[in-house]
Amino acid sequence: MTQPQSLIIDTDPGQDDAVAILLALASPEINLLGITTVAGNVPLALTQLNARKICDLAGRTDMQVFAGLDRPLVRPLVTAEHVHGRTGLDGPVLPDPETPLQEQHAVDYIIDTLRREPAGSVTLAPIGPLSNIAMAMQRAPDTIPRIRQIILMGGAYFEVGNITPAAEFNIYVDPHAAQIVFASGVPITMMPLDVTHKALTRTDRVAALRAIGNRTGVAVAEMLEFFERFDEAKYGSDGGPLHDPCTVAWMIAPDIFNGRPCNVEIETASPLTMGMTVVDWWQVSSRPHNALVIGDLDADRFFSLITERLATLP
Ligand code: BDR
Ligand code: CA
Repeated sequence: MTQPQSLIIDTDPGQDDAVAILLALASPEINLLGITTVAGNVPLALTQLNARKICDLAGRTDMQVFAGLDRPLVRPLVTAEHVHGRTGLDGPVLPDPETPLQEQHAVDYIIDTLRREPAGSVTLAPIGPLSNIAMAMQRAPDTIPRIRQIILMGGAYFEVGNITPAAEFNIYVDPHAAQIVFASGVPITMMPLDVTHKALTRTDRVAALRAIGNRTGVAVAEMLEFFERFDEAKYGSDGGPLHDPCTVAWMIAPDIFNGRPCNVEIETASPLTMGMTVVDWWQVSSRPHNALVIGDLDADRFFSLITERLATLP
């Protein structure tokens, strides 16, 4: 097998964030260096706690977890307890974590890691608001060309918005950070709602996760049954979109996905469309491509991959 790819996941768990982290921990193609947390779905005090609970669940109390920014760069924090529950990880009852919180600030950890590891070796997978990543870029521009790639969950084009009529949650919460990241020149793969809305946690898919029979499978089934209820009511679908694991699955099996290189710009001025990702999908502008925008996936293969991999965890 080829060398595992070094990865930092930047996250605001979140049930779908949890599955992304578990998928990375269960996959030999990935060397998860650390997990950095940010305020998003719930405040930072809860996202860092939830990340540590997820490491415990995977039997990985050795994993390094860092706390980062407790608010977006410019705007006040917006959270999503209406989707994720009061804890951010409602569903299963998970014990207080043994995995410690590292003392170092997440932004310092990202900068130090990019400077320490070989240039072009570390992938970043931001699956929450982009505040930590943008702050690292602003504080240490020398690290920007050292990033191998950024694979992020955020934005939407044909599916438009899930937190406002025009904007997806992760980008809406910190559009100024998103603007910095999309202008950075780093190769970006973007998993917008256009693809994640095709990755539905159908009843049979959640049942297959529960049927693994390990504690991770049961906990994930309980998380998804809580998480999907909001989107099922909103969209009238069987299951809700499993957004964040698309990023990690792309690293493992990119042939599951389809997309095209596009220009993506972020709206930071208009109150009406704040945080909108303006994707030039039809190539009607002369603006340069700055992201590979994913629009489709083989959802059965995606869920099979997750189920197979989570079966290797405790
Ligand atoms: C994104 O927002 C959060 O609620 C999810 O964890 C995901 O990262 C989807 O819009
Ligand atoms: Ca998330």
